[in-house]
Amino acid sequence: MKKVKQRTVFICNECGSKFPAWSGRCSNCGTYNTITEEIETVIPKSENFYSKSQPTPITQIKTRENFQRLSTGYKNLDEAFGGGFVEGQVVLVSGEPGIGKSTLLLKVSSNIANDKKVLYVSGEESEHQISIRAKRIGVSQQNLYILSDVSLENILEVIDNLKPDFVVFDSIQTIYSQSLESVAGSVSQVKYVCSKITEFSKSKGVISVIVGQVNKEGAIAGPKVLEHLVDTVAQFEGEKGYGYRILKIIKNRFGSSGEMAVFNMTDRGMEEVLDPSSFFLSEKPEGKSGSVIFPYTEGSKPVLVEIQALVSKTFYPVPQRRSQGIDINKLSIITAVVERELKINLKDKDIFINVVGGIEIDDPAVDLPLAVAIYSSYRDISVPSDTAFFGEIGLTGEVRGVYFSDLRIKECKKMGLKRVFASVKSLDQENIKVENIRSLSQIKEIFRS
Ligand SMILES: Nc1ncnc2c1ncn2[C@@H]1O[C@H](COP(=O)(O)OP(=O)(O)O)[C@@H](O)[C@H]1O
Ligand SMILES: [Mg+2]
Repeated sequence: MKKVKQRTVFICNECGSKFPAWSGRCSNCGTYNTITEEIETVIPKSENFYSKSQPTPITQIKTRENFQRLSTGYKNLDEAFGGGFVEGQVVLVSGEPGIGKSTLLLKVSSNIANDKKVLYVSGEESEHQISIRAKRIGVSQQNLYILSDVSLENILEVIDNLKPDFVVFDSIQTIYSQSLESVAGSVSQVKYVCSKITEFSKSKGVISVIVGQVNKEGAIAGPKVLEHLVDTVAQFEGEKGYGYRILKIIKNRFGSSGEMAVFNMTDRGMEEVLDPSSFFLSEKPEGKSGSVIFPYTEGSKPVLVEIQALVSKTFYPVPQRRSQGIDINKLSIITAVVERELKINLKDKDIFINVVGGIEIDDPAVDLPLAVAIYSSYRDISVPSDTAFFGEIGLTGEVRGVYFSDLRIKECKKMGLKRVFASVKSLDQENIKVENIRSLSQIKEIFRS
């Protein structure tokens, strides 16, 4: 082992920023109580650090014609990843404990093990625990190997001998390298372990999936510090107490980001939901105010979701603004624009927002349905359930066009909706009425008609 230098630093577990001294709040990402003291190990760069490769004209670089993508065994997941995994790809799957990361990845491992060699490394559960889950979700493949270990050096040795095509590391925070002094789960450890995994994946062409636990309270490093080290970042979301789970692709070097796959978690494991729109709208109330359909997308797959608003009289000196699934700052801005453009007073009203299905919406097109839901609840007039809204709203109340408009309208049509309000020019109007809306003030007329 090479001689290493050590020093003490203070690192934020959330964003990985380093500080000379401890403080209660990270001045970079703004989170509280995430800074911990760590022994940082500086590993000397090897003599061959500077690569000896030569530049090549782009026209002479050999591309592998139609390289094979490896299927996960789930149609929706393959599509979200841009057609499956690519040789040497490193994927980070993050999510809160209990969301179903291990369940999904064990099933994916088993699907891949049908014709590839797969290793599932678990630092969290014993082989016995994994076999119980495997039985429950119906996994039994000869080519699926389970390794319960936490030492990176041991794991890499096993991989060297076994030569798998696909490896899952569950989770990165439990695996540690003996060449570092700092404890497992610290920022230096997870970064180092991740870079080692990436190194071997790239050199051997092995596909690696790394599980990153999201745990805000503990002193373990968050998956955010690893995002730049991997090819693909997938985030697992869902509402506690409900079965549906959404895997969102937030970064992908081998496909577009913003894609997502929806699952239903049952006692038999993860089942893919191939028609998420009808799934999310299945419990939409008829004739109730404050409920609006929104064709949501951050990638090429739109999904109809229901945005709910409840506007009620406040009993506090400062009215409450609560939101689940939509950024609270966005809610404040849209509320202010709604007040001015629609000439209503919300200063003495509490506003509660919910995106049904537990999706975290990061799509600017949510502005219009959000404004409509607030107004609908305020006036206590329902929006017809065959009507959808999408569009970004500017501070002067103008409604702006957004990307993927045609795909959104198509999805509305597919789901049998009859009217869509959006800022669009001329689009296919067959079987659906697309109303061009340019200003939020036009909403008043819609409610009048
Ligand atoms: N016997 C069981 N029957 C049904 N669901 C179970 C059973 N055991 C565990 N689960 C579900 O599986 C979830 C754990 O999923 P898991 O894949 O271990 O999550 P993660 O790896 O993200 O922490 C639990 O939240 C629980 O809802
Ligand atoms: Mg797990």
